Amino acid sequence: MIYTKIAGTGRYLPEKILTNFDLEKIVDTTDEWIRTRTGVERRHAVAPDQTTSDMCVEAAKEAMEAAGVAPEDIDFIAIGTTSPDLIFPNVATLVQHRLGIPACPSIGMEAACTSFIYALTTVDKFIKAGEVKCALVIGAECITKLVDWSDRNTCVLFGDGAGAVIVKPSEEPGILTTHLCADGQYKDLLYYPVGASNQLEKAGTDEASIMMTGKEVFKVAVSKLGDIALQALESAGVSKEELDWLVPHQANIRIIQATAKRLDLPMEKVIVTVQDHGNTSAASVPMALDVGIRDGRIKPGQLVLMEAFGGGFTWGSVLMRL
Ligand code: UT7
Repeated sequence: MIYTKIAGTGRYLPEKILTNFDLEKIVDTTDEWIRTRTGVERRHAVAPDQTTSDMCVEAAKEAMEAAGVAPEDIDFIAIGTTSPDLIFPNVATLVQHRLGIPACPSIGMEAACTSFIYALTTVDKFIKAGEVKCALVIGAECITKLVDWSDRNTCVLFGDGAGAVIVKPSEEPGILTTHLCADGQYKDLLYYPVGASNQLEKAGTDEASIMMTGKEVFKVAVSKLGDIALQALESAGVSKEELDWLVPHQANIRIIQATAKRLDLPMEKVIVTVQDHGNTSAASVPMALDVGIRDGRIKPGQLVLMEAFGGGFTWGSVLMRL
């Protein structure tokens, strides 16, 4: 039996930090409202000339160093993002070239906040098929470039960053189960209106920004994330008590608490970064994983459940032994 196992992790956060107090000066909001309704206290934001691939390169270097891997060892790249540098070439191709990784399959996965879970799940299948020996998987987002900074409903929520993992085949248990899902009936509750073939006239205007019906998103997120967390445990045949860590998508502390409750998991067993990172979309899960591993809380051999939910709606989980 071949498992996919994490060999190293890394993250990159842009230098600029925007606190809730900074946002009080931009829109009609308060630190108190943002903290109590979302759990966010501060978030990082890219510089105007910084791109998603810039952040990917930095996060990847950290993960490669942690895994003891050189560019020539990597034979597959998958990057989950909704804010790629360009429509094409995909961001993984840019990162492959910039890191000096020899020519290899380099794919971009676009599933909003669930993009990293989609990317890792895809790589897991290639590794289990025996086709990949060392993969770089990243979730990264320049999402502050997609928000309307005059809309208090959305601008207070998001932040930028990149989280990277190196994964390899192993005979020791690693990824145990993966579950992906999407349901486009919810497409109008959370979306970005401009693409490459639709509403191009809105590009560069105030209308080109994230649109979200927050309350409705919240309800479906709580329900689907709870369901998928239990589904992951059930299909792996493990009990709630056996779970060591939940590494959830960091959209809102109240959603995270609701998922932990469905799992009967105390918050001490949940990696929470939403206060420092905000909602970094595809980057949130790999960055939270890196935080938990680097500060020594998540230890080798422990059972870790990662989950995410995003626009589409899309949702998914990965259950693994570290
Ligand atoms: O990552 C992808 C998935 N995304 C999510 O999971 C996000 C899910 N949704 C949420 O996290 C929450 O719905 C929000 C944090 C977005 C909003 O929290 P809420 O408790 O659902 O608030 P609400 O939208 O119902 O707004 C409540 C009130 C409104 O005022 P009225 O109509 O009651 O007078 C808003 O206008 O809060 C007001 N409000 C604000 N007030 C101060 C909305 N944004 C702000 C703000 N500052 N930034």
